[in-house]
Amino acid sequence: MENKLKSLRNLIERELQEIKDSGKLEELKNKYLGRKGELNQILKGLKDLAESERPRLGQLANEVKEELAVLFAKSEKVWSSKGQAEDLDPSLPGIKNEVGTLHPSTLVQYEIESAFSQMGFAVYDGPQLESDYYNFTALNIPADHPARDTQDTFWLEGNNLLRTHTSNLQVRMLQKYGAPFRGIFPGRVSRYESTDASHDHTFFQLEGLMVDKDITIGNLIATMKALLSAVFKREVDVRLRPGFFPFVEPGFEMDIKCLVCEGKGCSVCKQSGWVELMPCGMVHPKVLEAGNIDSKIYSGFAFGLGLTRMVMMKYRIDDIRLLESGDLRFLKQF
Ligand code: PHE
Repeated sequence: MENKLKSLRNLIERELQEIKDSGKLEELKNKYLGRKGELNQILKGLKDLAESERPRLGQLANEVKEELAVLFAKSEKVWSSKGQAEDLDPSLPGIKNEVGTLHPSTLVQYEIESAFSQMGFAVYDGPQLESDYYNFTALNIPADHPARDTQDTFWLEGNNLLRTHTSNLQVRMLQKYGAPFRGIFPGRVSRYESTDASHDHTFFQLEGLMVDKDITIGNLIATMKALLSAVFKREVDVRLRPGFFPFVEPGFEMDIKCLVCEGKGCSVCKQSGWVELMPCGMVHPKVLEAGNIDSKIYSGFAFGLGLTRMVMMKYRIDDIRLLESGDLRFLKQF
């Protein structure tokens, strides 16, 4: 029995060195170590041995068994890494990785963020699901105010809504950070709108708010101009007209000459040659007070840039619905 065990071990050792594929390895493993394999056949003979021989040969049998397990484990390791190496052919041409691109709104957003960062503004994010209070009431738009009719939206339980503008963050930010304050808040807003080439129920705005001592309309206009030249990298014609928003006093509309048609009239500018781009104004004292700011000491300006409109102007996109369409033929152009 001793000889049988030893010669089996030597035989297996030799055969393992000669195998040429991992299938053969599996075959050998079954043949020798399987339940009905040769090793077990030999071990069956243990019970017929003389009492005095049994412990010594039993120990030897265990040693051989362990040795063989190690030998097979080693070969398996070799063959599994060989398998992988054979699958890799470094001479094959590479597989092209599909890399996505930034959405045009994100591109313009980043540009504006960097222009404002240089003027000392920080960038803030805030809730898109908002309370009636921060979206309307805190902005001097009480429940019965007709200004609400122009900003209908999607209502949720508990007097909550999808925010109609990024102005919802004005009072939130003043309450949180106090004065002086300089920040911009880009983000998604919603309106209950029927859609056409220049209206969508979902679009992006970028709010700006600056509150400090001695802030005037001059600061507002200078900041707006710096913004426009940062984005369009060219001279754009602008006009300022009075505009009404309950949370600013005085309030303005800053329009730019339509860059899609150069002022001739098209679907984007509703044939007028001008596009409303930047409603703005001086922060209403009631808004400052809602933000716990003393309006006798501090003043400020706010603007609500139509980020989506700006993107359409910059890239001359004549249908707003393309932006949220998710259409790759459109998106891949940026
Ligand atoms: N939130 C206003 C809107 O969406 C725009 C606005 C912002 C006006 C800030 C004035 C100041 O129509």
